[in-house]
Amino acid sequence: MYIEELQLRNYRNYQGLEATFENKVNVILGENAQGKTNVMESIYVLAMAKSHRTSNDKDLIRWEEEYAKIEGRIKKSNGSLPMQLVISKKGKKAKVNHLEQRKLSQYIGNMNVVMFAPEDLNLVKGSPQVRRRFIDMEIGQVSAIYLHDMGQYNKILQQRNHYLKQLQIKKTSDHTMLDILTEQFIQAAAGSL
Ligand SMILES: Nc1ncnc2c1ncn2[C@@H]1O[C@H](COP(=O)(O)OP(=O)(O)O)[C@@H](O)[C@H]1O
Ligand SMILES: [Mg+2]
Repeated sequence: MYIEELQLRNYRNYQGLEATFENKVNVILGENAQGKTNVMESIYVLAMAKSHRTSNDKDLIRWEEEYAKIEGRIKKSNGSLPMQLVISKKGKKAKVNHLEQRKLSQYIGNMNVVMFAPEDLNLVKGSPQVRRRFIDMEIGQVSAIYLHDMGQYNKILQQRNHYLKQLQIKKTSDHTMLDILTEQFIQAAAGSL
């Protein structure tokens, strides 16, 4: 699998970009701050519907513009697959083969990427959280169920943490609710919620 064509509109510093790639090593050369990383990032965003370096989607929209659009054609063994992602201030719209995908978990996984950027040295140097996030993102591309389970897990983790904080404040000895949350937390961790 490789990306044959990439089109950007209002993505970061690009008003418009059309690029084609070969099924080989592709080298992108340019001066500092010309947008080399932005091209790499856009390919990652096309695959993952989010950036590897910002959690704020609005950063991806070219300044003063309303939306950013990334389009690509992914060459696979059984043909070419058009993918499209539009990011606006209201949210994201993702299309595969011209069909809108209601759930991003359905969209992610149609195109597989592994990104390694200088900031990824944090994977080795940084906290376990950074490593976990990276591995979660990679597995999430292969398994929509994993993405779903991870969402459930994070939700219940947050609820339980919030409740633990409340318990500290209230100093109650009734742990019924905590027990329920703990049970749900275990089930979510096992992927069976
Ligand atoms: N949302 C944005 N709108 C317009 N320009 C942006 C946006 N985000 C980043 N840029 C510009 O993109 C350039 C950096 O591009 P980058 O891909 O990091 O460069 P490099 O070629 O060094 O990897 C900078 O000039 C920066 O001002
Ligand atoms: Mg760069």
